[in-house]
Amino acid sequence: MSKVIVITGASSGIGEATAKILAKDGGKIVLGARREDKLKKLAEEVKNLGGEAVYSVTDVTKVEEVEALAKLAIDTFGKIDVWLNNAGIMPSSPMIKKDIKSWDAIIDTNIKGVMYGIGAALPYMYKQKSGHIINISSVAGHIIHAGNAAYAASKWAVRAISDTLRQEVAQDNVNIRVTNVSPGAINTELVSSLPDSESKKRLQQFYDAYAIPVERIALTIKQAIDMDEDTAWNEIIIRPTKQVL
Ligand SMILES: NC(=O)c1ccc[n+]([C@@H]2O[C@H](COP(=O)([O-])OP(=O)(O)OC[C@H]3O[C@@H](n4cnc5c(N)ncnc54)[C@H](OP(=O)(O)O)[C@@H]3O)[C@@H](O)[C@H]2O)c1
Repeated sequence: MSKVIVITGASSGIGEATAKILAKDGGKIVLGARREDKLKKLAEEVKNLGGEAVYSVTDVTKVEEVEALAKLAIDTFGKIDVWLNNAGIMPSSPMIKKDIKSWDAIIDTNIKGVMYGIGAALPYMYKQKSGHIINISSVAGHIIHAGNAAYAASKWAVRAISDTLRQEVAQDNVNIRVTNVSPGAINTELVSSLPDSESKKRLQQFYDAYAIPVERIALTIKQAIDMDEDTAWNEIIIRPTKQVL
């Protein structure tokens, strides 16, 4: 394969598992997240699995750090084949709790972070006349649940951004694919970091009952990448078989 794949939020969960599965195919992986110790360890693991890896401490709410991640990919490997906008947070709570700090953080990370990623990768991909942007939305970007306003809004936004981008690059005939992945309950660190104890308890019970291993999503992303270049998997919803909503 040996594609160049940039992954935001690579230090745990879906990002980490995707880096590992792509490494086994000889992928050249560019890792970004805030926790440097985790990135350093993962870069070693990628190399041991047969891939190549570089990393850069990247907070996706900081546009200059996202631009630097793209530049690292170009300086190291000369191109960007795939940009995976995966970094995301879910500090959810009912709106009456007025957790404005979390509302801001969700919007900055889950919406602006995705747009910064697209903005960083797209000029290189237009120049190459090839590329693949993969955005991680959520089942929460398709279905409304009480107590989840900011997160759900951010994931609906990711879907809107994905399909807008798909139409623009198709019109411009630049051979860039766009894939929006909407996972259901997946076993990662996402729930454990919830600050609101009631929301955390409720969601943890749900995840304990239903969540599936993170490797399922990593494999899905790999399959979307491996699809013939003239074909784009635009919209993927992937849930545990037993998850109702
Ligand atoms: N797990 C699920 O059930 C599920 C379902 C649907 C969608 N998703 C989505 O899947 C994506 C990955 O989440 P996950 O489930 O794998 O959870 P996770 O294990 O908590 O991973 C989230 C990743 O995002 C990174 N991140 C958070 N804020 C960041 C920032 N400002 N800048 C850069 N990186 C940041 C974290 O790394 P650092 O802390 O090191 O920066 C971490 O690597 C998210 O977009 C999430 O919304 C997850």
